[in-house]
Amino acid sequence: MVFAGKGGLGKTTCSAAVSYWSSQKDAMKTLCFSTDPQASLSDIFEKDIFGKGLMELAPRLDVVEIDADRRVKDYQLSIKKKIIDMYGLDELPAEIDEYIDSTSAEPAMYESATYDAMADLVAEKDHDLYIFDMPPFGHGVRMVAMAEILSRWVEKITEAREKAQEYEAVAATLRGQKLEAGDEVMRELTEIRSKITTFTDMLTDRKRTAFFMVLVPEKMAILDTERALAMFERLHITLSGLILNQVYPRDLLDSPKVSEFLKNRVKAQEPYINEVKEKFGDLVLATLPMYVREPKGMEMIAKVAEDLVNGTVVV
Ligand SMILES: Nc1ncnc2c1ncn2[C@@H]1O[C@H](COP(=O)(O)OP(=O)(O)OP(=O)(O)O)[C@@H](O)[C@H]1O
Ligand SMILES: [Mg+2]
Repeated sequence: MVFAGKGGLGKTTCSAAVSYWSSQKDAMKTLCFSTDPQASLSDIFEKDIFGKGLMELAPRLDVVEIDADRRVKDYQLSIKKKIIDMYGLDELPAEIDEYIDSTSAEPAMYESATYDAMADLVAEKDHDLYIFDMPPFGHGVRMVAMAEILSRWVEKITEAREKAQEYEAVAATLRGQKLEAGDEVMRELTEIRSKITTFTDMLTDRKRTAFFMVLVPEKMAILDTERALAMFERLHITLSGLILNQVYPRDLLDSPKVSEFLKNRVKAQEPYINEVKEKFGDLVLATLPMYVREPKGMEMIAKVAEDLVNGTVVV
């Protein structure tokens, strides 16, 4: 299950709520995953999870918030070490060292680390359900185009390998070794590629993966959802559903105690709720009300889960 969409509309809130429901009510062993550098799962579950590995928050409910920056650094270190080991070098040539360091500035690198972490967790097959709370940039669906981006990255490593091979020849001659390292690098690259393909196949298989988006009754969110739907289509993904979040309860309009300001806010949502209904219709699976305070902590998450499952669809 993947939660994608524009930033700040409720992906993490919904991911936490659905994880709660599947693990506590449906008794499925669930893993809720995030890569948010702002540690939003830590924030919502009110537990320090970030970069701490897999943590069990309740029976059958595991959460993990990966530190993608650290993963990128570890990855670079392991590549450097491999090149040094395989080519029998004493130290990495400065040019290659700088080249590998410079790759961390690429967004593809961050996304690769995220994608890699997701693929690793799913490959462990230790859970019945995986819930991926996607980072706010892009639509979170970009990662499906990752196979391509990562393939390019694999090509870059191949290039680096070729550069290193020049040194290898010299180093091997000096040591009187045979040149077998090349085969091993290629084996590794093939393995990475196959891991990517397996995971991408799973993500685009509707029987195994469901994509959800969260939106709110506002112009920009609607436009963004339309754009995302077009992108989904291009990537051959079917969106499983939308969640309309932060809807002000309509009965606020009937109460004399409610301020004009708030009543205007309620009224302002109306045309957008209608637009959501017209544009997305049956895709809207649930609506969530605007809560009086930010939903945080297990008790509130349970309440959001309840509302998600039992809430009436007002559109
Ligand atoms: N229905 C709601 N009522 C009140 N507050 C809400 C509601 N839904 C979300 N929020 C609050 O809005 C903020 C953004 O929500 P959330 O973190 O779930 O969004 P997100 O899509 O994950 O954001 P990001 O893209 O930055 O990761 C949070 O502070 C959250 O507590
Ligand atoms: Mg979030």
